Amino acid sequence: MRTRPLKVALLGCGVVGSEVARIMTTHADDLAARIGAPVELAGIAVRRPEKVRAGIPAELITTDATALVKRGDIDVVIEVIGGIEPARGLITTAFEHGASVVSANKALVAADGAALHAAAEKHSADLYYEAAVAGAIPLVRPLRESLAGDKVNRVLGIVNGTTNFILDKMDTTGAGYSEALDEATALGYAEADPTADVEGFDAAAKAAILAGIAFHTRVTMDDVHREGLTEVTAADIASAKRMGCTVKLLAICERAADGASVTARVHPAMIPLTHPLASVREAYNAVFVEAEAAGQLMFYGPGAGGSPTASAVLGDLVAVCRNKLAGATGPGESAYTALPVSPMGEVVTRYHISLDVADKPGVLAQVATVFAEHGVSIDTVRQQGKGGGTSHSNVVESGGEADLVVVTHRATDAALSSTVGALRELDTVRGVVSIMRVEGE
Ligand code: HSE
Repeated sequence: MRTRPLKVALLGCGVVGSEVARIMTTHADDLAARIGAPVELAGIAVRRPEKVRAGIPAELITTDATALVKRGDIDVVIEVIGGIEPARGLITTAFEHGASVVSANKALVAADGAALHAAAEKHSADLYYEAAVAGAIPLVRPLRESLAGDKVNRVLGIVNGTTNFILDKMDTTGAGYSEALDEATALGYAEADPTADVEGFDAAAKAAILAGIAFHTRVTMDDVHREGLTEVTAADIASAKRMGCTVKLLAICERAADGASVTARVHPAMIPLTHPLASVREAYNAVFVEAEAAGQLMFYGPGAGGSPTASAVLGDLVAVCRNKLAGATGPGESAYTALPVSPMGEVVTRYHISLDVADKPGVLAQVATVFAEHGVSIDTVRQQGKGGGTSHSNVVESGGEADLVVVTHRATDAALSSTVGALRELDTVRGVVSIMRVEGE
């Protein structure tokens, strides 16, 4: 074993960074044996040096992250500060000064992965980011390496623990969205400002990264269609249950049937209770991968938190250090297919549409005609009267309202949108209560 240590700079010492530092210290001998050389924490850049950090040697702390990555003797920079800047500038500077980089920064990789990979390649360095997608769950490496000989056609996953916790609570307790969010906040699953999670930004960044790696093309955050879960109601969950489904916030990356394009999207969707993703509870993540030769694979585990995310960072650290000792680099960007990312309108799936309609003769036929005129085939219809009509003897006549639920066969999102637009024009449709896609069948 080489005795001269590999030197590591850590940018950020919060929930994840402090766990990385702790494991590097407590598992130093094992890490050295696995790498073939000791790894030494050479400096830790933080914003607030006065904060008490148990177990972190004070002499390693600095507020000058730029000087740390410019030192020239740093072999690997671990970036766990998140956000676009200063992370991007620091990573680029690290490459320029001969270091490889391990990052947990999903927002940065999803926004600017191509430029970062190019900078790494220019300086013969590695850029690894297993921790950026679904915490401890190995996904980047399986897609980038284990499945490199296969053809991935679909990645379907729950990649945000906060929203899965909220939907799981709504499903199991009948709670509404706000109530479930409050519980997630009280238990520390949701941040004080939960926007990134509940509006789907966090999941969209992960979807962009997964789609790019899975399909060997460039997909950025801007290419991902995104809808959050703030509009999901207790009634939607109840309706899903009646269909033998549950509601999940899914990241879905697909290769088109003709193989000529891909799509990436994040939105709430109903999935059958028989689908493996339906049983992913609380704040867990799971990703279902469909590959031509391998078939269906599922990756499951904790998608967030200090220790799980540090586990993924440490795995990358070992890999990058091994590469350094071998004088090599690992896989870089693979975007050779250059497949275009199609707009949401071209996505083909099934839909659950809940309408508030007048309960009188001919309404069902009118609604069915609108679907037919837009080429959207109906699979099932369920109607339940809400009363309010005039009645005499045993006959209920016009004037009341009914809930009408239509589930379609597969259609494009554009066709479904036009259908819904036309339904809204009907006098007999009092309201389009909800539209939810049905996936996983
Ligand atoms: N906030 C994310 C989640 C974890 O709830 O899964 C970090 O991506």
